[in-house]
Amino acid sequence: MALFDQAFDRQRDAAVVTGAGNGIGRAIALALAGEGVRTVFADINADTAGAAADAAADPALAFAWVGDLAERAECDRLLADARKRFGLITLFVHSASPPRREQDHVLAVSDETWERMRAVNLDAGFHLGREIAKSLIAAKSPGSMLYLTSLHAHTPRNLPHYSSSKAGMAILVKELARTLGRYAIRVNALVPGAIAAGGFVADPALARHIPLGRLGRADDLAPMALAVLSNRIAAYVSGASIVVDGGLALTNWFDPPELD
Ligand SMILES: NC(=O)c1ccc[n+]([C@@H]2O[C@H](COP(=O)([O-])OP(=O)(O)OC[C@H]3O[C@@H](n4cnc5c(N)ncnc54)[C@H](O)[C@@H]3O)[C@@H](O)[C@H]2O)c1
Repeated sequence: MALFDQAFDRQRDAAVVTGAGNGIGRAIALALAGEGVRTVFADINADTAGAAADAAADPALAFAWVGDLAERAECDRLLADARKRFGLITLFVHSASPPRREQDHVLAVSDETWERMRAVNLDAGFHLGREIAKSLIAAKSPGSMLYLTSLHAHTPRNLPHYSSSKAGMAILVKELARTLGRYAIRVNALVPGAIAAGGFVADPALARHIPLGRLGRADDLAPMALAVLSNRIAAYVSGASIVVDGGLALTNWFDPPELD
């Protein structure tokens, strides 16, 4: 069997992907379903969650779930519905995140916006990951989790609620990876660069700063997401941050030399 054949165990694996209605989450959820993995497409937006699940090659593998993951009770409902539909959840992707609005800078961001960003990115990420881990441990099953963090976990974005929540997620990934490793549960971060994917209204001029010369697309993230999630391909990878940014993070105040 070739290395990349059957990255997942179609009989056993089932996934929950949050933020699957749009952008990167949608691309990852569709890619998982494309690999034959039963996948819950979770999102707050009923129209986009439904449309994303409908786009799956085999609709029987895609279950659209709608709810507000800022609410603890809704997180629990997601887990209960996912288990009822697909049984043990072995793969978890946390991509949901409230909108980033440029006007929410340090002096302007409201308590409510701050709270909501933290609730979805960090609180829901922790609660869902921990609950899925408890079920995996009880079932003595391996599992794999992927959190969408950001280059702005480590550098400012002029959006303090966003960058702070992503920094929290970055260390959460390490805490989970360290504690859960002995139960064969791997936990990693996927770090996108500037991905024109809905949540980020990208200025095309940004491409000048990207070594590979273009903004990213959601589909640039999905193959790497699947590779890291796969216990076959990335069996020995845990607690890592995998950057998929076309080299954007290399940018600094020195321009590269002109060679032609
Ligand atoms: N696009 C980028 O350039 C970029 C860069 C770095 C990190 N990221 C991260 O990657 C992830 C996906 O980014 P994207 O650009 O595809 O985002 P997006 O805004 O296109 O998609 C996020 C999805 O989350 C859903 N969502 C928001 N609040 C929710 C809630 N309370 N409950 C359930 N679902 C909710 C939205 O409806 C949306 O479908 C995010 O975590 C983002 O922070 C993106």
